[in-house]
Amino acid sequence: MNRNFLRLAVVGIGAAVLILAAPISAQTPTPDPEVIQQGQTLYQATCASCHGLNTGEVTGNVIIGKDLVNNVFVQSLSDEELLAFIQQGRPVEDPLNTTKILMPPRGGNPNLTDADLMLIIAYLRTLSDPDASRLVASEVEDTGTGTGSYQWVQVVDNLDNPLQLVNAGDGSGRLFVAEQTGYILVIENGEFHQTPFLDISTLIPDSVYHGGYTEQGLLGLAFHPDYENNGQFFISYTNDAGDSVIARYQVSTDDPNVADPNSAQILLTLDQPFPDHNGGNILFGPDGYLYIAFGDGGNPYEPNYNSQNPTTFLGKMLRIDVNAETYRVPEDNPFVNDPNFPPEVWAYGLRNPWRFSFDRATGDLYIADVGQWLIEEVNFQPVGSPGGQNYGWSAYEGTQRYLMDVQVTSEVTLPVLQYTHDMGCSITGGPVYRGKNLPDLQGRYFFGDYCNGSVWIASQDESGEWGAELFLNTDFVISSFGEDEQGELYLVDYKGAIYRLEVQK
Ligand code: HEC
Repeated sequence: MNRNFLRLAVVGIGAAVLILAAPISAQTPTPDPEVIQQGQTLYQATCASCHGLNTGEVTGNVIIGKDLVNNVFVQSLSDEELLAFIQQGRPVEDPLNTTKILMPPRGGNPNLTDADLMLIIAYLRTLSDPDASRLVASEVEDTGTGTGSYQWVQVVDNLDNPLQLVNAGDGSGRLFVAEQTGYILVIENGEFHQTPFLDISTLIPDSVYHGGYTEQGLLGLAFHPDYENNGQFFISYTNDAGDSVIARYQVSTDDPNVADPNSAQILLTLDQPFPDHNGGNILFGPDGYLYIAFGDGGNPYEPNYNSQNPTTFLGKMLRIDVNAETYRVPEDNPFVNDPNFPPEVWAYGLRNPWRFSFDRATGDLYIADVGQWLIEEVNFQPVGSPGGQNYGWSAYEGTQRYLMDVQVTSEVTLPVLQYTHDMGCSITGGPVYRGKNLPDLQGRYFFGDYCNGSVWIASQDESGEWGAELFLNTDFVISSFGEDEQGELYLVDYKGAIYRLEVQK
């Protein structure tokens, strides 16, 4: 059968399908996980320096070779033909070389044997073959909420790498935007205040200003639930040593639109081994405690197995009580009596939680966790849970086994939603819509993809089944979603603008 043709037919469906997570079932086709794992490791060590995997251009990564996910060249050649190609590479003068850059023999690593290359090829096939990476697929039903009914209306632009939009919950109606570059800006009545609310640009790494892709900088902002009375807010950033910092600040005494830079009090600092996967979202839960999510420390192979290692804050969600000199650990935190974990830990097994949210109506917690090469996921923790969940990374990526040598000592809470990298490459979690202006979207959980701008909505039916559907495709580089005090929904475009979701006029 013509492999290419088959693939193209499947791509058409792929665009409209969201995968609903279910326990790994008999429906899962079985590429030998060991082979795939080895191929992936070899690929990451040699080939990934030049080739993207669905990275596109929006991440700012410089891709020398071609994106090898859904790559027609990979799909149309047999294993033997592909092996021959990788053995020899493609010289610059070959007319088929469209990049005019040399593809070096054996990917530039003469030590790779043919058997190694075959492992890499097996891995590349899983990136192109939906059957190999999909677990359970469910067709999207058209509920009429898609394109045509809603529009994103620009609120402000000219921002510099905005990463978050929050409100202060103080009845002022203001919006606060955190820029990665270290500025917090106030938006009131659709306009910026001239003076930033806070400027911590001198505290963050220089790399943030070099124009390339970075995951460092000012990453999170949360206002104290009693901000109106105590003027306290909290930020999360990477400092100039690249380490994560959670700090408390105070609004100034004479101007509600300017914070007091001298009020800084560092609550905790976390050593970061690599510049990526910092997480950094902070948020007050319905219980009044501050939740902090840290990534695994970075590096695709998670070399220190941080997320499953109880002793570090890396790969964890923490829960602390900030109504103290610095902070206190709530007595009912899940691991307070477990000597293996620091008592601050609320949940673990996270890779790079990029935006979690509490449903403001129910208190349920949604954690969107960015995947490695294959799967993006949404974890769900119902309100009232005692905490302590293990969300699986790096033993699992989504519902699939990832690093085979990672021991899992406790039950893994698998995601409720996941999608594979034919539908995006980096999840951005949003809120559950609880505003008034868009009644048809009540109770829908919003999430999007940073790489391709897709926005989906999800919810759970009476029987507990999760369903998701494509909401809108956008051209945005979605770094966050946000809510105003009324619960109306906003989207933060990393390219520099904020949009509000409205009914199409
Ligand atoms: C030094 C950078 C570099 C490395 C390392 C590298 N490649 Fe490439 N690769 C390229 C370039 C550049 C091209 C495109 C050349 C062209 O247009 O013909 C390419 C093309 C390819 C193609 C053909 C894709 C197409 O659509 O034409 C495949 C398959 C491929 N590489 C696989 C690999 C594998 C597997 C490895 C690791 C063993 C690897 N490459 C390592 C630079 C690299």
